[in-house]
Amino acid sequence: MRLIRTAADLAALPRGERRVVVMTMGALHEGHLALIRRAKELGDQVVVTIFVNPLQFDEAADYDSYPRTLDADLALLEPLGVDAVFAPEDAEMYPHGEPVVTVSSGVIGRVLEGAARPGHFDGVLTVVAKLLHLTAPDVAVFGAKDAQQVIAVKALVRDLNFSVEIATASTVRDDDGLARSSRNVFLSPDERKRALALNRALASAARTAEYGATLTTTLKAGRDILDAQDGLDVDYFAALDPADASEANDDYRGEVVLAVAARVGATRLIDNITTRIAPSAEGDQR
Ligand code: PAJ
Repeated sequence: MRLIRTAADLAALPRGERRVVVMTMGALHEGHLALIRRAKELGDQVVVTIFVNPLQFDEAADYDSYPRTLDADLALLEPLGVDAVFAPEDAEMYPHGEPVVTVSSGVIGRVLEGAARPGHFDGVLTVVAKLLHLTAPDVAVFGAKDAQQVIAVKALVRDLNFSVEIATASTVRDDDGLARSSRNVFLSPDERKRALALNRALASAARTAEYGATLTTTLKAGRDILDAQDGLDVDYFAALDPADASEANDDYRGEVVLAVAARVGATRLIDNITTRIAPSAEGDQR
């Protein structure tokens, strides 16, 4: 496994038949590793990027405290058969400081996660665009854990004609249902218990949808669980259209992403589940 620090060395990396890239900010956990296993299935050359992208953090304190564990990350990647790790310094990615030209995430960047974190998706898409140019993959794999990010990246590729295929891998959870996240290390045991309400709410809402409920009834099932949980500061709990991240309303039918964001203590967590609102959904079913 090669550790590459510069764009020049990355450009000199011989190409495999089918290069697959997994982009990360490091502090790797099982969620990231699942993406890498998926990448191994999709191609013969896997490149992992590790870069804590300053452009996508709306709070300086969040950027400063973001876990950075490169040595441990490399030790996790080595046995997975990763071919190369691209871990650039800030000055390598942004040699002229903050970029003058950036990617706009448009309306996708202004709703839900984008509304809560102004500029976040512009920062994500700018670094994703740069990393796609630098790594030049045939396929890039993203996690369903960040549903709105997947929608934004697919729109980037479609609207700006990137020639790459976007693949996704499902959310990896701990045994208790908590979605794996680099931020989980900040949770105290008590906060962790409270955080479980996120997955419980999503699971209950999805079950309700499966019984044929409308979106309003579906969301209420989840909302009841979130409301009943002490010490959980819910930012949003909403349903979005996976095509464009627009918020779904009660006459919505078909596949829908239920997404939640909440603060537990000082830690902000997000989670989501994909479910389906039946074509026949009507009235106030339970
Ligand atoms: P990061 O949060 O490190 O996540 C890297 C990738 O791992 C993303 O595609 C994310 O969706 C996926 N991932 C994280 N936790 C997961 C889990 N529990 N199950 C499945 N996949 C999971 O997302 C970013 O970094 C950045 O925004 C990035 C795309 C690298 C741009 O800076």
